[in-house]
Order: sequence, then structure tokens, then C-alpha cells
Amino acid sequence: MILVTGGAGYIGSHAVKELVKSGHRVVVLDNLSTGHRAAVDKKAIFCPGDLHDLKFIHDIFGEYPIELVMHFAAHSIVPQSMQEPLLSYRNLNCTINLLEAMLKAGVRKLVFSSTAAVYGEPLETPIPENHPLKPTNPYGQSKAWIEAILEQLHRANGLDYISLRYFNAAGADPEGELGEEHHPETHLIPIILKAALQGEEVSVFGSDYPTKDGTPVRDYIHVSDLISAHLLAMEALLQGRKQREIYNLGHQRGYSVLEVIDAARQVTGLDIPYRMADRRPGDPSTLVASSAKIKAELGWEPRYSDLQTIIATAWEWVRQHPRGYA
Ligand code: UFG
Repeated sequence: MILVTGGAGYIGSHAVKELVKSGHRVVVLDNLSTGHRAAVDKKAIFCPGDLHDLKFIHDIFGEYPIELVMHFAAHSIVPQSMQEPLLSYRNLNCTINLLEAMLKAGVRKLVFSSTAAVYGEPLETPIPENHPLKPTNPYGQSKAWIEAILEQLHRANGLDYISLRYFNAAGADPEGELGEEHHPETHLIPIILKAALQGEEVSVFGSDYPTKDGTPVRDYIHVSDLISAHLLAMEALLQGRKQREIYNLGHQRGYSVLEVIDAARQVTGLDIPYRMADRRPGDPSTLVASSAKIKAELGWEPRYSDLQTIIATAWEWVRQHPRGYA
């Protein structure tokens, strides 16, 4: 049985769907602070509750024969982490509680959701996994510290784990059942698509970065490709082929904010007005992954991560669900 924390969230819900589809029994733990009950696959067991509640987590491990944990639950919004750093640092409390309960129950396999935000402003692009970690925001810092904790628990307590450093997750379930919905929405692609739908203007945060057109460059990776990497990581841990690894998950291609707006115009056929605004604090200029390592070691191949497909699947979700999961 697989425990998925944050399984009602954007990325976690896509993982639960794929796990169930591939025949796994799944327990979902989520406090629904940002996730959606309707996003949780009906075949999964849903346990509403909070990772701050140690007894609640111990009880889950007491009740279900969990073999491996996928830990998605976190406060992951970069601008929010700049305004309220302690929110990001709560990611540490929650993860420590989870790890304590896992070790007590003898569960020693973890797929951990990390982030490109651990790197900060890159010294080289595409960024390899051994690039120094200098996060420019508390969110990235919280994940870097958790990675350090995991490494220590690997040595001291035999915890086997794979940490997946996501670049910019985007797009929606190609079958149209799941999509991205945050309140408030801060992510670029859903903001652009809502603006397209409602005829609003997009604010472009910063036009003086050292990039091709002055706007920040990101490596957008389709959520379904992220999830296929999680399943490969899970199998490698369950079969004992891997004990401790860190992998980047990106498409190794960077797009500026203006290029994303342009691609969205092509996909939607709509004019999407924008205006230049100030930089958003905590944003690095460029984040583009080298994902050579996971391709070579686990045979991962992204299938949906060209920008047009990412935007087309997200657009389909937004058009079919203008009120999200409501
Ligand atoms: N942006 C705009 N206007 C908007 C929204 C975003 O110009 O209305 C810009 C941002 O300033 C940034 C880029 O678009 O330069 C991407 O911003 P997102 O908010 O979509 O994504 P982030 O890069 O800030 O963060 C995302 C995840 C993090 C993760 C990071 C890794 O939210 O959890 O990718 O690259 F750490």
C-alpha cells in the first residue's frame, strides 16, 4: 500500500490517479487547506487530517500496511513564502512528524517532492543535480533543509529515498479529469489562461532580467510526466535498485514569460493582453534542468512536456471547468 500525502493537491491528485490505475492500493492524507476532495480518486482511501498531528499520522501507519510514502504535502508557493517565511518552514515540522511516524512503523521508503527552488540563481544552465544549493526564497530553503535531514536519516536509520526536484509543473490530466486550481492562483500558465478566458490583463513580473527578452525563464514540465517519474522512482525503491538518489525533473528547455504568453495565444487563438510590472521578490532569473541523470538511470522519458501540449491540456481543463472543482 502507498501513502500519498497531499493527494488532494494539484500534483498529488495526478499521482493518486496513476497509482490506482496501475493497480496500487492508495491511502491519501490531506488537510484540504489547498487541495480538493473532488480531486481524490474514488478508489483511494481518503484520510482527512493534518501532518502537524503526530497521533493522527501514527494511527494511519498503525491501521494500513504502508510500504512506501510519496510526500507531496507542502506550502509551495514562492511569493507566499517571501511574505510569510514561517509557512514554508512549517514544511519541516510536517515532514519531521511524517518521518518519525514512518521510522516508528518500520516504513523506510520515501519519494520526496523537492524543487528547483533549492538551487537559487544558477551558476550554469542546464542545472545538474550537483549544482550548489543557494535558495533565494524560504520555500526552496525549507526543501533544501529537508533533503539534508533525509540524507542523515538514510545513514543513521536506513531510510531509502528518492528526492525529485521539480522544475515548473504545469498542464493537466490528458484525460481531462484533473487540473490545476489554487486559491489565490499565482502560477503563470493558469493565470494566463484565466486572463484569456475572462479578457483580463496579465502582469509580467520583471523585464530587466539577464535573459533573452528580459523576462524570467522557466523549464515547464507536464504534470503527467512528473508522475511517470514518481512511479519509476517508487519501483526502483521497492525493488531495492536504488537506496538514495536525487533527480531533477524538467524538460531541459527554458521559456521566458513572454514566450509562454505567445504560445498561449497560439493554443487559444485569443489575444492575451499583458503589461510589464515590477520583479516579484524571491524569483531567480532562470531555472532550466538537466534531466540527463533520471533518463539514464531510470529510463524516464517525458511525453507531454512540449510547451504547446502543456498549455493545450491546461486550456482544456480551464474551458471544461471554469469553476474548477466546485
Ligand atoms: N509570473 C508572471 N506573472 C504572473 C505569475 C507569474 O510574470 O502573473 C512569472 C513569475 O514571476 C516567474 C514565472 O512567471 O518568473 C513563473 O512563476 P510561477 O509562479 O508560475 O512559478 P515559480 O517559478 O515561481 O514556482 C514554481 C513552483 C515552485 C517551484 C518552482 C520551481 O510554484 O513551487 O516553480 O521552478 F519551486
